[in-house]
Amino acid sequence: MEKIATSLKNFLKEIESIDDLMDLEKVRIKYLGKKGYLNAFNSLLKEAPNEKKREIGQSLNHFKNRVTEEIASAKQNLLEQSNDFETDKKYDLNRPGPNNHLGLTHPLQIVTDDILHSFNKMGFLTVEGPEIEEEFYNFESLNIPKNHPARDDQDSFYLDGGLLLRTQTSPVQIRIMEKVEIPFAIVSPGRVYRRDTPDASHSPVFHQIEGLYVNEGVDFTHLKGILKQFCLDFFGDRPLRFRPDYFPFTEPSCEISIACLCDGKGCGTCGGDGWIEILGAGLVNPLVLKNVHVDPEQYSGLAFGLGVERIAMLKYNIKDIRLFYENNYKFLKQFV
Ligand code: PHE
Repeated sequence: MEKIATSLKNFLKEIESIDDLMDLEKVRIKYLGKKGYLNAFNSLLKEAPNEKKREIGQSLNHFKNRVTEEIASAKQNLLEQSNDFETDKKYDLNRPGPNNHLGLTHPLQIVTDDILHSFNKMGFLTVEGPEIEEEFYNFESLNIPKNHPARDDQDSFYLDGGLLLRTQTSPVQIRIMEKVEIPFAIVSPGRVYRRDTPDASHSPVFHQIEGLYVNEGVDFTHLKGILKQFCLDFFGDRPLRFRPDYFPFTEPSCEISIACLCDGKGCGTCGGDGWIEILGAGLVNPLVLKNVHVDPEQYSGLAFGLGVERIAMLKYNIKDIRLFYENNYKFLKQFV
């Protein structure tokens, strides 16, 4: 009697953890098969004293019924589950898993690609330069000698051995002129570094795109035409303003602004005057050409530099530059 009860208990425990039809069959054989518990108990019953037979018989019946029922219902459940894979919505095998976010293209990359594409269409090739730069390329060769006030505007992160984190992409101008034959036209995107305290419009790391075209007879009309075409491509038909500016490596130099969407009524984005500066540009200073042994009598060039963050903020109406670097998924996924 006790053995029957223990055996039933064991059976109930075993069947609880069965999740596969093969294992269920093994359990069935163990309890109901020829050499299983039920038959063993039946033989014991025969040997039992007569007055006990009735009681033992009843509990064996109970054992047999319970085990048979449990096995049948477990079998039913397992069969239903395996059908679920094909029919039930609970198991849609075509459904992607829950955590398969693919990486997104970062808004700064989207804007960089768009800008490069616009210049590539006009024949500019994309090249890249190093972020750790020699002082010579970042400053001297660009006509920014030591103690030049322009160095104050571009407070730098210096490294040992005359190296620094580049403060602008303009050193690529020099590196490319040293290497390739004239005529050529390049655009060069990348990170630049300045010792600025982060706030809504400043970041110590940001991105620029440099442009340089050198040929015989390049003049200011080419500069205007190329940059107008870019702005038309990227921003659509909006008024542009060219104003004189100063850069040591271009002469003459200009800044280019685009009309703000507020139409000059004044808003936070344009600071109230209706114009937003997007580019610095000019004709390559003959002194810079001489630094790389290019004859300024024969050749001339145009150069421009633009800030990617600024353009992205304008395009997407983003008010704080720090949002680009916080990697908040909700922010980043708006731009795809
Ligand atoms: N390098 C300049 C800056 O960082 C931008 C510039 C590039 C201006 C090329 C003129 C020509 O402000």
